[in-house]
Amino acid sequence: MAVHLNQIVPWGRSRKEYELMFGLTPEDLSLGVLDCGGGPASFTAEVSASGYRAVSVDPVYAYSGAEIRVRFEATADSMLSQVRATPDHWTWGYHRDPDDLLANRRKALEGFLADYEVGLREHRYIMSELPALPFPAHSFGLALCSHLLFLYSDLLSEITHVRFVRELCRVAREVRVFPLLTLRGEPSPHLAAVRSELEVAGWTTEVVGVAYELQRGGNQMLRIFRQ
Ligand SMILES: C[S@@+](CC[C@H](N)C(=O)[O-])C[C@H]1O[C@@H](n2cnc3c(N)ncnc32)[C@H](O)[C@@H]1O
Repeated sequence: MAVHLNQIVPWGRSRKEYELMFGLTPEDLSLGVLDCGGGPASFTAEVSASGYRAVSVDPVYAYSGAEIRVRFEATADSMLSQVRATPDHWTWGYHRDPDDLLANRRKALEGFLADYEVGLREHRYIMSELPALPFPAHSFGLALCSHLLFLYSDLLSEITHVRFVRELCRVAREVRVFPLLTLRGEPSPHLAAVRSELEVAGWTTEVVGVAYELQRGGNQMLRIFRQ
């Protein structure tokens, strides 16, 4: 799936949001973490600065930081309008309101951009994409996938979901995916198929409640691991 900058909304999340979305502990971070579809999240920048090994993969890393910032600003108003037009879809808590959400997204973007050039040179940001990641098997203790799988269930078919998750399971010993809702805020129709395909292949899957909710009802992640 080729990603063109004018088709994506480069909104990223912070380390704190990742910690809440994925229930991350210091032990989890010490495993070596892949952020797949990391985009302009500041997770890798922030945890790398704390001395952990983290790598982000995303096709958007074909673009410069300046191009990504321009795209963010070009989409900010319409994103905010969409949020304001659908008040029933959101739970305000971590983000106080739509303006706070935008401020937090801008802060995460700036954290990412401050690290981007150096991180590209240090191979912490890698331009690549599912379903074929440029890593040997078991390269990471943990792979995270935030706001790509399940969220885009209308664009990515069931078989694509299964292929993407299988690839994450190849490169990491454990995989966590958040959220499990679609863009419309409905449970993803692909969750059951992904779980059953992985379980047939010997993985254990569990849906875990987490302490983060922005999409109303979106407070669960999928955890995939070997027992
Ligand atoms: C909504 S953003 C989420 C960014 C980040 N994970 C976060 O939660 O803040 C989705 C990201 O998935 C990336 N993406 C799209 N297709 C992908 C693929 N096949 N493999 C990896 N990343 C992909 C997009 O470029 C975009 O940056």
